[in-house]
Formats: sequence, structure tokens, C-alpha cells
Amino acid sequence: MVSPGSSFTFVDLFAGIGGIRKAFQNLGGRCVFSSEIDPFARKTYCANFDEEPFGDITKINKCDIPDHDILAAGFPCQAFSIAGKRGGFNDTRGTLFFEVADILKVKKAKAFFLENVKGLANHKQGKTLETILNVLRNDLGYVVPDPKIINARDYGVPQNRERIFIVGFRGDLGIKAEDFSYPAAVNFKKSLKDILEDKPVSFKYYLSSKYLECLQKHKNRNAAKGNGFGYEILDPDSVANALVVGGMGKERNLVRDERLENSVAYEKINKDGIRKMTPREWARVQGFPDSFKIPVSDSQAYKQFGNSVAVPAVQAVAEVLIKLLNDRGLTTRRI
Ligand SMILES: C[S@@+](CC[C@H](N)C(=O)[O-])C[C@H]1O[C@@H](n2cnc3c(N)ncnc32)[C@H](O)[C@@H]1O
Repeated sequence: MVSPGSSFTFVDLFAGIGGIRKAFQNLGGRCVFSSEIDPFARKTYCANFDEEPFGDITKINKCDIPDHDILAAGFPCQAFSIAGKRGGFNDTRGTLFFEVADILKVKKAKAFFLENVKGLANHKQGKTLETILNVLRNDLGYVVPDPKIINARDYGVPQNRERIFIVGFRGDLGIKAEDFSYPAAVNFKKSLKDILEDKPVSFKYYLSSKYLECLQKHKNRNAAKGNGFGYEILDPDSVANALVVGGMGKERNLVRDERLENSVAYEKINKDGIRKMTPREWARVQGFPDSFKIPVSDSQAYKQFGNSVAVPAVQAVAEVLIKLLNDRGLTTRRI
């Protein structure tokens, strides 16, 4: 763990509910600006960080963003209409990546940390990532080690979640790409049984007999056609499938739980005790502590945790980045 005395500032863009912020704060960082457009995500963010993020990032004059050491962003993946051969700054105009690039251009953060879906690597036959790297390296002059796809389960959460991480250092700092290596996997593995609710949960999370039957039929039909996709009842000794962006696909992460909060409700639900995971379990699967407040409806909460990040995976990568800045005397230490 980076020294608790290490102090650096960062901005949290496309902040969602603040998963990236949580990781950077755990490492001693101070957030000086955040932006998130979705009112429900802002509500959760505000409840947990006591700060109302700025709204639409396209609407801020970039000069008004406070100075910061590190720019952190989990920007949505969008295609560029590339005019030139490799795609440069102007080709990304009108996209959310352009906003990130523009803030780097104006505010000149010492380093950046970007997180995105794994699919960014081969989006538009690799052209999207190539353009992003071209802008960061050649137009903005950052030293950018090759991005890496990291699986959150290697960093202590019980979830198979692969995401691409891109970090970079301002060219004038003298940091070379080979000075940075992505963190090694940690060797303590968690499984689902470590994060399931301690107490019986409301019957509303249980599937009705009819719905479970319908899922079974659907799965059988798919299997007959040779398609693998369907619902999945997870083994408590295994890990969850990736929580899906938008909170969809809860059926891919069902658990068997025969403890019932209310036996009167038993008639309404399936007899095998199959239920969806609760929003708190989704929070845990993403590595959020139980002190993280969930002030929104279940459907918003699933969406928010599905869109968020596995905090320990972000923290592991961020720690290497910050340590590198610390070692070069590029962050200030609190006395
Ligand atoms: C992939 S999510 C990032 C989640 C975040 N890393 C977390 O831990 O919760 C992308 C976020 O960008 C937000 N967003 C999209 N367009 C935006 C804009 N123009 N300005 C600010 N936020 C925006 C979305 O509402 C969404 O919450």
C-alpha cells in the first residue's frame, strides 16, 4: 500500500457512483472535481462523498476545472469517424473521449488513469483504441505503456470482470513506459460464499416458480441450438459472472438460498430457493465496503453497480501509478 502520508489530487470524470474515487481516496488522494450526468448516480455519489458532482462534462469550460495531479475517468466507449490515416485529436471531436483529451490538453495532469470495457481493445477492428493511443501519445505527448486487460478476480473480488486499463505520464516528467508495470495478481482469492448476505433476504429477490420454469425452457431451447447463454445458478465456491453494464442480466448470477425471511411468502416463489443477488451483494462483488450507502431503488442500484468498477482492481493499478509519482517526488507528502 502506498504510504498513507502520500497526498495527491485527482479529478473523477464520468464518475458514476465513485468507484474510481473510492480507490484513489484509499491511496491518500484528494478529489478536487467530479462530473456525472445521471441524476440517480449523482444521488448515490452525493450520499457517499458528500459532494454533488458537476453535470454534463461537455458543458464546462475546461479552464474552470481545478488543477490536479491525476485525471481519472471511466469514459463510455464510442466510435470515432476517422478522417486521417491514424485518427487524431480532431477526429475524436464530439465524443466523450474528446472531453478527456481536451481536459488533459488544458490542465496538463501529471498522469491519467482510464478504465473501459474490454471490448474497446477490438472495437472497430482496433481503430478506436489506436486513435485513443495516438491522441494521448502523439497529440498530447503522454508516455503511455501498452494498455492491459485485467480481470478483477485476480485482485480479491469474487467476480470475473475483465476491463481494459490505460495509464499515462506527462512527457516532460522523464518517466518511461518501461518504468511502469501493471500489478501482479494477488494470491488471496475470494469466492461468492464470502460475500453473500449474512441474513435471510426479502422474498422479492426470489424468482417465482413460473419465471424459473420460463428461464429453464429458454435455456434448453438455446442449448438445443448450440447456444450457451442462459441463466446460471452459481456455485458458492465459485465467482460471479461479470455484472453487466446497465444492471441487466441478473439471471446470469443467481444463487441458491434456502433461508427465507418470511415463510408465508414461500407459496409465491420457486421451491429451490433460487434468487437474484441483492444490490448489497452486487456492491460487495465490486469490492465496495458495507459502509457504502445505497440511497436509490433496487433497479437503479443494479444499474449503478453494473456500470461501476471493481474497486480493488482499480486500486491495484492506481497504486503502482501513484508509487511511481511518489518515488520521483511528483506528489506532495503531508507532514
Ligand atoms: C461506465 S460509467 C462509469 C462508472 C464509474 N467509473 C463508477 O465507478 O461508477 C460512465 C458514466 O459516464 C456518465 N456520463 C455519460 N455521459 C456523460 C457526460 N456528458 N457528462 C458526465 N457524465 C457522463 C454516465 O452517466 C455513466 O455514469
